[in-house]
Amino acid sequence: MVFNNLNYMVSLLLFLLWVRITCPAWRKPHELHLGSKSAYRNVANHNSSEIKYDSCRAVKLWALIRHGTRHPGFPLIQKIRTRLVAIRDLVLELVRNETIEIKNVESLESWTPEFSEGEGKKLTSEGEDEMFFLGQRLRTRFPKLLRPVYSSSMYHFKHTRSERTEKSAEAFVNGIFGRGADKYVEFPDTPEFDPILRFYKLCDRWMKNVKKHPDAQIEYAKFRSGNETAETVKAVNERLGLGSYLSVNDVHLMYMTCAFETANNKKTISPWCSVFTVNDLMVMEYAEDLKHYWIDGYGYELSYKQACKARDDLIEFFTSKETFPQAKIYFTHSGTLLKMLAHLGLYNQSRHLLADDFSRNVDRTWRVSRIDPFGTNLIFVLFKCHDEQKILTLHQEKAVRLPCCMSSDLCSLKQFLDYYSFKCLFKKICRIP
Ligand SMILES: *[C@@H]1O[C@H](CO)[C@@H](O)[C@H](O)[C@H]1NC(C)=O
Ligand SMILES: *[C@@H]1O[C@H](CO)[C@@H](O)[C@H](O)[C@H]1NC(C)=O
Ligand SMILES: *[C@@H]1O[C@H](CO)[C@@H](O)[C@H](O)[C@H]1NC(C)=O
Ligand SMILES: *[C@@H]1O[C@H](CO)[C@@H](O)[C@H](O)[C@H]1NC(C)=O
Repeated sequence: MVFNNLNYMVSLLLFLLWVRITCPAWRKPHELHLGSKSAYRNVANHNSSEIKYDSCRAVKLWALIRHGTRHPGFPLIQKIRTRLVAIRDLVLELVRNETIEIKNVESLESWTPEFSEGEGKKLTSEGEDEMFFLGQRLRTRFPKLLRPVYSSSMYHFKHTRSERTEKSAEAFVNGIFGRGADKYVEFPDTPEFDPILRFYKLCDRWMKNVKKHPDAQIEYAKFRSGNETAETVKAVNERLGLGSYLSVNDVHLMYMTCAFETANNKKTISPWCSVFTVNDLMVMEYAEDLKHYWIDGYGYELSYKQACKARDDLIEFFTSKETFPQAKIYFTHSGTLLKMLAHLGLYNQSRHLLADDFSRNVDRTWRVSRIDPFGTNLIFVLFKCHDEQKILTLHQEKAVRLPCCMSSDLCSLKQFLDYYSFKCLFKKICRIP
């Protein structure tokens, strides 16, 4: 034992506790590499002052919002409650037998599964907060456009048919109009697969040739069986004194649990995160990024071309002569957000993301932890400036520049339309020939 002085240890622990409470950045590094199951708080913009441009007036807003933090799906919850519990018990037995010594054994001892089987994919209370505060910040950013009094002619809210998007929409409207608004705000009936909010569910060719096709998994599978992943699995095994007991799947299970528990608990660190170094997490993250790149991103043209369904809804709304509604706000899923980002040409890479390129891609723009965590949002605001109309694009509440308008945050509607209003051939590209 290096620290045999009890007083010294107690002071050290108190100091670390103090650092953890007073300095949120201290626990940030691991939170930044958790893929699509990352918390929104790492990318949120808490500056909610009004966004104004000289001689311009915000007239319309169109938003695509991914639901907030949810519970894991049923199969993952089951694995956490059986396999992960068994791994915990084995590690604790080894510690008791004094076969191994591990750090943070107390947090592992007190760990129990926090997700129960009946909760599969439901929004968590943290997810509700994410949506509530997002709504609140958005209202203060555009106070003249998003008025705090609900009217069904002014606002159009819609969510997909799922508990997590429904509850997200409700929390969000409470953020805009005040608690209890979810009781009177109207939400239209939800079709099983909404052609705008979840177009890809209706794209048979994408389902067959991308989503369910083994080719789309090649890079992901290659990386999972490659040496970086093997090194990580080996390191985690060693850290837990388990020899070569843990498989890639076990380590992945720990990673997912780390992600969900981190998203759901902003104050505590999951013991399943502590089994990884930041570099290990970056390896696990790269696999997730590869998966999404080849299924929802730039990997296949079809994946993002079909997002013209959502894009056209935006264009129709912004070019319509109708003054109402003034806001169209949609609650949807990761798959929609990623395809839309790629459709717009955002976070594009000069070369495809490949399994062999891990070290070359440390600074990649296609980083799902940042571009598509829970609560991800893509918001377009139409401004009227004298006789000209301009579009502001916000991703994660921050202005982003579109490829057609790299010189300013405000993009003229005309330039936007010239670049993006090519014909949407959804039926044609999605039909299985
Ligand atoms: C907050 O946002 C406003 C509007 O975008 C901007 O003018 C201001 O500089 C920002 N404040 C800080 C502290 O970043
Ligand atoms: C721990 O010690 C007990 C008693 O010696 C033994 O039966 C058991 O197999 C040990 N457990 C492990 C995981 O080595
Ligand atoms: C994996 O292998 C490649 C070449 O085969 C090598 O360049 C790289 O350093 C290795 N990475 C690790 C983590 O061992
Ligand atoms: C992404 O970047 C590649 C390489 O620069 C380019 O060929 C491609 O057209 C871009 N994709 C989109 C959708 O903008």
